[in-house]
Amino acid sequence: MSEQHMSPVPMIRLHDGTEIPQVGLGVLRIDDEGVTPVVESALAAGYRHIDGAAGYNNEGGVGRALVNAGYATGERRRELWVTTKLRDSEQGYDSALKAFDRQIGLLQLEYVDMYMIHWPTPFDWRSGETWKAFVRLREEGRVRTLGVCNFLPEHLERLHEETGEWPTVNQIELHPTWQQREVTAFCREHGIAVEAYSPMARGADLNAGNGTVERIAAANGVSPAQAILRWHIENGTIIIPKSVHAERQRENLDLFGFELTPEEHAAIDALDGPTRAGHDPLTFSYA
Ligand SMILES: NC(=O)c1ccc[n+]([C@@H]2O[C@H](COP(=O)([O-])OP(=O)(O)OC[C@H]3O[C@@H](n4cnc5c(N)ncnc54)[C@H](OP(=O)(O)O)[C@@H]3O)[C@@H](O)[C@H]2O)c1
Repeated sequence: MSEQHMSPVPMIRLHDGTEIPQVGLGVLRIDDEGVTPVVESALAAGYRHIDGAAGYNNEGGVGRALVNAGYATGERRRELWVTTKLRDSEQGYDSALKAFDRQIGLLQLEYVDMYMIHWPTPFDWRSGETWKAFVRLREEGRVRTLGVCNFLPEHLERLHEETGEWPTVNQIELHPTWQQREVTAFCREHGIAVEAYSPMARGADLNAGNGTVERIAAANGVSPAQAILRWHIENGTIIIPKSVHAERQRENLDLFGFELTPEEHAAIDALDGPTRAGHDPLTFSYA
C-alpha cells in the first residue's frame, strides 16, 4: 500500500507535552553503510520516527539518509522524530555532554527529539549525574525530551529521588511472550509512556502459541507481524519494529485498517511467558 493510502500513525502525547509517532523504525544490527538505504526506504514508506543509538555504531549512516532525503532541516525536520541513546560507558555529566556533541555531529542535526539513557547499569549507577547533563541539553534546545531504556521500577524511583523528574518514556523489551506487566503498570501510574523494543521478539513471536498468532493474522487477512504490532497499538504502546526490507517496513506501518476482536486481543495477552529475547537490565551493559 502506498504512503498516501495508509491511515496516519497516531501521535502519543508525553507528560511534557511533546508528541511522538506511535510507530518508528528500529535500526539495531544494521551497519553504518547499510543503514542509509534502509532509513531512506522507511522515510519513503511514511515512517516519521527513527530509533537509533550510539551503541548501534551507525549514527553517521542515519545522518546521511536524513540529509539525502531532505529531513535534516526545515519543515521536513519538524515532521520527523529522531531518538538516539547514550552509550553506558559515556554516562556521567561531562562525558554525556561530550558524547552528545559527537552524536549530533554524526546525525547532522541541530537537535534530536529524544535522548535516552540506554541501560541503568545499577552496578555502576551514574544516571543521576547523567540526567543533569540531559537537562542542560534540553534547556539548550538541543534535545526535546528525555527518556530511559531498560529501567525497572526501582531504577525509575532512584532517578526520581535524585533528580525530581520522571522520564517521559521508558523503552523496554516487550512482546507477547514477555509482557513485563509490573513495569508497564508502574510506568502508567507515573505517566511514563511505554515504548516496546523487540516488539516481535526479533521474529520469534511470529509463530507464538502454537500458531495462535498465525490464526489471528489469517482471520484478519494480515501477516503475523501485523497481528502482533496491532496488539501493541491497541495497548497504547509505542513500537519500533526493525526491518531492512522495504516491503516489511510498509507492512509494519500498515496497522490502522483493521482491529483485533476482544477475544483475539485476549488470546495474545494470554501468550505472556517467562522468556526474554534480550538482556537482563540488572546485570547487562551495552558499554
Ligand atoms: N533500548 C534497547 O536496549 C534496545 C534493545 C533492542 C532493540 N532496541 C530497538 O528496538 C528495535 C526493534 O527491536 P529488534 O530489532 O530487536 O526486534 P524486532 O523489531 O522485534 O524484530 C526484528 C526482526 O524481525 C524481522 N521482521 C521485521 N518485520 C518483519 C515482518 N513484517 N515479517 C517477518 N519478519 C519481520 C526482521 O528481519 P529483516 O530486517 O530481515 O526484515 C528482524 O530479524 C531495534 O532495531 C532497536 O532500535 C532497543
